Amino acid sequence: LAQNERESLFIVTDFAQKYYADQLRTEEGQSIGQSYFKERGFNQSTIEKFGLGYSRDGWDAFTKHAIKSGFKLEILEKAGLSIIKEGKDPIDRFRGRVIFPINNVAGKPIAFGARILKKDTKAPKYLNSPETEIYHKSRIVYGIYTAKNGIRTEDNCYLVEGYTDVVSLNQAGIENVVASSGTSLTKEQIQLIRRFSTNITILYDGDAAGINASLRGTDLILEEGMNVRVVVFPDGEDPDSYVQKVGSDGFVNYIKENQKDFIRFKTEVSLQKVGNDPVARAGLISDLVETITKIPDAIKRAVFYKEVAHLLEIDESVLITEGNKLSRKRV
Ligand code: CTP
Ligand code: MN
Ligand code: MN
Ligand code: MN
Ligand code: MN
Repeated sequence: LAQNERESLFIVTDFAQKYYADQLRTEEGQSIGQSYFKERGFNQSTIEKFGLGYSRDGWDAFTKHAIKSGFKLEILEKAGLSIIKEGKDPIDRFRGRVIFPINNVAGKPIAFGARILKKDTKAPKYLNSPETEIYHKSRIVYGIYTAKNGIRTEDNCYLVEGYTDVVSLNQAGIENVVASSGTSLTKEQIQLIRRFSTNITILYDGDAAGINASLRGTDLILEEGMNVRVVVFPDGEDPDSYVQKVGSDGFVNYIKENQKDFIRFKTEVSLQKVGNDPVARAGLISDLVETITKIPDAIKRAVFYKEVAHLLEIDESVLITEGNKLSRKRV
């Protein structure tokens, strides 16, 4: 039975993906959805590659269509596509939004992210599918199906925050890119990426939130025995806005010139926060040491101790002694 339900969820989610993509070709879809994508610089082949769509600005257009096509309301609700409230007619979850299907590693749609079109409104910018039996957001990254071959051949994965970052970078010819979709990165997501490469470059938004998320992400990636680099974008830019601004070559150059290994990134960001306060500086040193102790590989640890020693002008042996103390405490 459980197996049947999973299969039904796959079928109805696939049905919904095709429905939303079709809606983009209707008159309403053209004048609202298609023109939204056009304004954002997404071309037709990009729209098709990602199966982007449009959900109509009514209450129940999708739900009615799906019921008419033979789907049971119960499965529509379980798939997160319809919302049922007691005593009321069922309604569509996604209404008047552009649709980004979220695919699993095999390329099957399992969920949706839906972006609002109007700017000034209290509604959330993105609405996402709830957790379902086939969609666990902590275990998937957006774009993994289109990215996996590129990640393998480049032996590197670009990790971005958002749907539009993945889409724009693909259009610019950069395919080895996936998004954590705003939530904080999880161990399962990192392990999914690790199936294709052990190298990750974090390209989060150029704002305080992005920098803090990068700091949190690096530790987790290191614990999985992977290598991590970080690129910080100019304030207010994200990979989507930046690549649309400077083009593909400009973007690739920016990455080349600005990517930092995690320890240099962490040291520089922390030094800015800490300033000259000696107590805070000592705290920073133990923080960096703690990060290094999370690296499983002893040779890599040695290299990073050397780098921190150099960056902070401090004796390397002090760092190593501290690190060994921490590691012993942990076991
Ligand atoms: N996000 C979300 N719900 C929100 C806001 C954000 O799920 N209310 C997720 C989305 O996956 C989004 C990502 O967090 O893509 C990054 O958020 P943000 O940077 O605000 O959006 P962008 O991806 O830059 O989208 P846009 O360029 O359309 O503003
Ligand atoms: Mn489950
Ligand atoms: Mn942001
Ligand atoms: Mn953006
Ligand atoms: Mn963004």
